[in-house]
Amino acid sequence: MMFSSRKFYLPMVDRKLYCRKEMKQMIVVFASKRFVTPDTRDRDIIINTKEKLVHRLRQVFQESKSDSSTVDPWERLWRDGLTPWDLGGPTPALVSEVQQRPNHNLWRTALLPGCGSGYDVVSLARFWDDCQVTKKEKQDTNSSYQRTVVGLDLSETSLHRAKQLLDESVQTHGSFSRTNILLYQGDFFAGPSAWHLFHAEKPSNKQDTFDPVSVDTTNNPTFDFIFDYTFFCAIPPERRHDWGRVMTQLLSQKLHDSIDQSGELLTLMFPYIPEPRTDCPGPPYLVSFRDYLAALDNTNTSEDGISLRLTTPSPYQSKDVVASRFGQEMVGWWKFESKKE
Ligand SMILES: C[S@@+](CC[C@H](N)C(=O)[O-])C[C@H]1O[C@@H](n2cnc3c(N)ncnc32)[C@H](O)[C@@H]1O
Repeated sequence: MMFSSRKFYLPMVDRKLYCRKEMKQMIVVFASKRFVTPDTRDRDIIINTKEKLVHRLRQVFQESKSDSSTVDPWERLWRDGLTPWDLGGPTPALVSEVQQRPNHNLWRTALLPGCGSGYDVVSLARFWDDCQVTKKEKQDTNSSYQRTVVGLDLSETSLHRAKQLLDESVQTHGSFSRTNILLYQGDFFAGPSAWHLFHAEKPSNKQDTFDPVSVDTTNNPTFDFIFDYTFFCAIPPERRHDWGRVMTQLLSQKLHDSIDQSGELLTLMFPYIPEPRTDCPGPPYLVSFRDYLAALDNTNTSEDGISLRLTTPSPYQSKDVVASRFGQEMVGWWKFESKKE
């Protein structure tokens, strides 16, 4: 594992200070646009500005505990334009990582929880739409090679932005030809039956036959692929187990047919630290591999000890890591495996 700084290995002499140091680096990382490596002076300005932004962001969460407003803090942040996590473009590692998965061309449905501005929703949909269609797929009925990308967010304001981005993409690059894009508003933890369809972008040549049944949220939908980026770090640590439970449910539908066909989860772990910490404020909460492992390990509760497990020996850094998040963004691919194997 590579880290841009040795400070992760410093002894925890002053826990508070240590935490502040980590936070400072994280703030630069959270704030600065990708591929921009600020010089020292700019970096200091970014730190100061972004430290204030993250401080304000946390204040919004604190205030929401005591005020009587029914507006969710995430929605408030989106309305106030307080979104320091937003890269202003798609996550570079998403498509490059998906491309490397052996079975990715068999996937039909994807979910991006906490999709925010929807850059990644559009990026994945474009990638799928442009993917070569195999002969076999062409011979199958039309629907068999239709794909569906689902973006989910609590915040309606963020979904308006995602819809706008989608419209811009269609204007610039033309309509999608065989990819459905569904934007849902709702709470990830409440499960699909509580999500509301906010917008459906139909493929251009499927207006009549379009049927979003592949992600029918009233039944248990099947997802072949789920991408989590800056969603896990956004939720309070005490909800991580629920996160693991819901992820497992959303990917497990195909387990009945074959364990090989189960869906896959890509976690881009950020802001990554090598060992779990429970004494840092959030959001964003610092995340370690062991935090994901603990959240996804349901071997004791599931039948047959089947659980989502990391498919590589250890998390790794993508070649397309966001430059300003170097050393703090690690890839983990998860797939169902039986403990007995
Ligand atoms: C840190 S932002 C990340 C957004 C996006 N993934 C990105 O990287 O730009 C977290 C997003 O998750 C959404 N969110 C938070 N809790 C959620 C929940 N329980 N269900 C669905 N979305 C949620 C927020 O509204 C916000 O857009």
